[in-house]
Amino acid sequence: MNFLELEDLIKYSWMKNPLLLKNTWLPLEIYDINPNNIFDIASKFGVTDENISCYSSNHTKRSDGRKEFLDNFFIKENIEEPIKFLKNRTLIVRKAYKYFPKLQEVLTDLTNYFDSVVSINFYLSSEESSGFPIHHDGHHVFAVQLFGNKSWELWKPMVSSPMFRYEWGQQKPKDRPIDIITMKDSTLYIPLGWLHKANTPENLSLHATIGINPLRWIDVIENCLDTIGSKQSLLRSPIPASFLSSNGFSYHFKKSEDLDVILSWLIDEMKKEMNY
Ligand SMILES: [Fe+2]
Repeated sequence: MNFLELEDLIKYSWMKNPLLLKNTWLPLEIYDINPNNIFDIASKFGVTDENISCYSSNHTKRSDGRKEFLDNFFIKENIEEPIKFLKNRTLIVRKAYKYFPKLQEVLTDLTNYFDSVVSINFYLSSEESSGFPIHHDGHHVFAVQLFGNKSWELWKPMVSSPMFRYEWGQQKPKDRPIDIITMKDSTLYIPLGWLHKANTPENLSLHATIGINPLRWIDVIENCLDTIGSKQSLLRSPIPASFLSSNGFSYHFKKSEDLDVILSWLIDEMKKEMNY
């Protein structure tokens, strides 16, 4: 696997293959963040904060209260103590721009560059911890290694352009994975839908994930239907029982002229809503 610059990635690999990039494509603000900064945030806000969580390696969410964090996560020059506390665990800080105001500008630049909703999260893991089981995300991921190493296993998507909410953890790959190690100077690009699992081989690892959420057909259509539903009471009214048939498990629409009229009305409303 070669190192390529971001423009090359967009040209040749976007949506297709995972790639390693040099850690030079982002503004410096992000590369300055280190494990102590994450401990600092965790100590200050605690896991009771909605964006901060800690997972054990068996993937159950810890219910640590703020006090345990404050007792264990006070900042030290020597990072041995946090390593002990983090043993087999992954500490996650989501919506990182809330805690690192200097990332707000990075987020805005990335949002403009990709013309998509962008998220920045941080994952701090101790040796042998893997934050999540094999899964895919419903967005593109750049995993920017900031401290230590991370080993990754990647598998091709089993479903085309999967949505996070539909198939999370449902399907297990049969092929051998692609193995990749990210070091401090590298970013791993994981295209939308690729299955992955990460492990921390030694000591402590910190990486940022930059999630690029492309707008999809279903997002625009759902949004449009929601808007029409808020304006038109017909869409909010109960469906007449005569429109439906049931096989005992699920309901189906019976073919009828009334239903045809409603569906063509709905398509017209959607076209109006989309200025089509
Ligand atoms: Fe993921």
